[in-house]
Amino acid sequence: MKQIKAIAPATVANVSCGFDVLGFAVAAPCDEVIVTLTAKPGIVVSRITGDGGRLPTDSQRNTASVAIQSLIQTLGYNGGVEVELIKKLPLGSGMGSSAASAAAALVAINELFGNPVSREELVPHAMEAERIACGSAHADNVAPSILGGFVLIREYDPLDVVRVPLKAQLFATLVHPHIELRTEDARRVLKPTVSRKDAIRQNGNVAGLMVGLMTADYELISRSLQDLIAEPVRSVFIPGFERMKQLAKDAGALGCGISGSGPTLYSLSVSQEVAQRVGEAQANEFRSMNLASDIYVSEINYQGATCVK
Ligand code: HSE
Repeated sequence: MKQIKAIAPATVANVSCGFDVLGFAVAAPCDEVIVTLTAKPGIVVSRITGDGGRLPTDSQRNTASVAIQSLIQTLGYNGGVEVELIKKLPLGSGMGSSAASAAAALVAINELFGNPVSREELVPHAMEAERIACGSAHADNVAPSILGGFVLIREYDPLDVVRVPLKAQLFATLVHPHIELRTEDARRVLKPTVSRKDAIRQNGNVAGLMVGLMTADYELISRSLQDLIAEPVRSVFIPGFERMKQLAKDAGALGCGISGSGPTLYSLSVSQEVAQRVGEAQANEFRSMNLASDIYVSEINYQGATCVK
């Protein structure tokens, strides 16, 4: 029986200014997927744990199986696949939960076939899973979860995924308040157009962030972590958002924003100590609002999804 387990990390999409085009992977938490090749054709989601019974086992609707279906179709495999999903990422958190399951599933099945497909080529298959999960096939969670590091989606059609050569040494803080926000809903509130003035400023910030990351210019990174597209309309979903940002700055973070579509907050800092301080300050603030939260502090994850032997 050919079977393998893979894990894939949580991700921060958008990174403030890079709406739908920028994301990075963190060390933890990671979703786990066990994939088994079977004789009977078809994909079966045999078991899901850690989701509180909320994710679909219907293979047409589960992001892990949808991603696998897309890949095996390309490979022309007609046998069967059994998928077991061990959820470690909170659902509806903005930490790339649906993406991590798809990323782990793809890396696992690709390994079982002897890795016929490159990591970059796996990305479109994971995007199909995102389409099922939230109605939009964006790649800014799936690409960093598969590839690791900071990833830029320069273009969607045709897809052009670029690994950012990172010189800056950064620590990420994720603070996940126990509120659930569906990406689909968080996308619905976005305005359909952006003014020329805002587009110019947003472009400047994305470019500034890229240069800052590649030259380890921390001041430039800090100045560039601003979002004029999603944050202004989505921040209302996060209690005390402006105060949270101020607390991050006061604790020494380079910047703070919404992780993906939220409600998790992400911050970037130059040391583990600062990153930890940011997390505690924000978690305390949530606590003062009677809101529980989880803190994740880590370096940038350069590996992305990996098979566990
Ligand atoms: N870029 C996507 C969004 C990420 O912000 O809607 C979703 O996690």
